[in-house]
Amino acid sequence: MNQNFVRLNNGIEMPQLGLGCWDMWGADARRAVETALEIGYRLIDTAAMYRNEAEVGAALTTAALPRADVFVITKVANTDQGYDSTLRAYEASCRRLNLDFVDLYLVHWPVSGLRRETWRAMEKLYADGAVRAIGVCNYLSPFLREMDEYAGITPALNQCEITPYLFLKDLIIDCQTRSIQLQAWSPLLRGKRFNDPKLQAMAHKYGKTPAQILLRWALDHGISTIPKSASPERLKENFDVFDFSLTDADLAIMDGFNEDFRSSGEDPMRFW
Ligand SMILES: NC(=O)c1ccc[n+]([C@@H]2O[C@H](COP(=O)([O-])OP(=O)(O)OC[C@H]3O[C@@H](n4cnc5c(N)ncnc54)[C@H](OP(=O)(O)O)[C@@H]3O)[C@@H](O)[C@H]2O)c1
Repeated sequence: MNQNFVRLNNGIEMPQLGLGCWDMWGADARRAVETALEIGYRLIDTAAMYRNEAEVGAALTTAALPRADVFVITKVANTDQGYDSTLRAYEASCRRLNLDFVDLYLVHWPVSGLRRETWRAMEKLYADGAVRAIGVCNYLSPFLREMDEYAGITPALNQCEITPYLFLKDLIIDCQTRSIQLQAWSPLLRGKRFNDPKLQAMAHKYGKTPAQILLRWALDHGISTIPKSASPERLKENFDVFDFSLTDADLAIMDGFNEDFRSSGEDPMRFW
């Protein structure tokens, strides 16, 4: 199956769609990543907080793909933020993943009081060539503006909850202006809007599933997306989205689905 790539602000390429690995553990996690890699997924998003880096690493070992063909993302846990602890956390993640380096290392949440020092460590990892790119998660615009005061390196990517039902238009524009690639987490809203008649009508129009329409909405906005599934059928379904795109008019209609709805219930501004 085909797929798209995006170019990050430091010139490196990343598949636009990947596998999200939250909420999968042990043998299930390993099997899901192995299946995804067999299907053709080449972007894997995990995190120290997901407690499955070792299983992701084991699946990568089994797949035995050339290292350059797989783009691996992991994240520094909130409890490891700060300068020295971030540096140590990165090494520990690489060890668990059984990798010499991670393609993209992210700050998992904008933890109060630690953002500056954590980012200083991220910049050190990047300057040392230990990681190919660095970025953040859940940095809504106030956090990005604050970064202007302390960051020497612009994050390559910002991973945020963003869907038609949480249409953060200003954040999309802000990230575009700053050359920060947006990546959507919980792009399927954990299934919480699959029954919305508006979404179902759109799926019917294109002969696709609600999940595929939600993923296409992100891709057609130029957003990277990382749906999670542990089921082989749904892994295939979620990857099978490169043979169509939404018209501009339908994209605009879906932008209008906005309800400011956070499927996780987590508002990053609680860290402000
Ligand atoms: N940076 C952050 O703070 C942050 C926060 C949350 C998530 N994330 C990342 O984003 C990834 C995706 O988000 P998410 O896991 O919260 O939710 P999601 O991808 O929106 O939804 C996953 C849920 O939808 C189901 N599903 C998947 N494909 C489906 C399909 N085609 N049809 C019907 N149901 C389907 C999955 O079940 P099955 O497994 O049974 O298919 C699972 O229950 C995470 O795995 C993680 O990597 C990052």
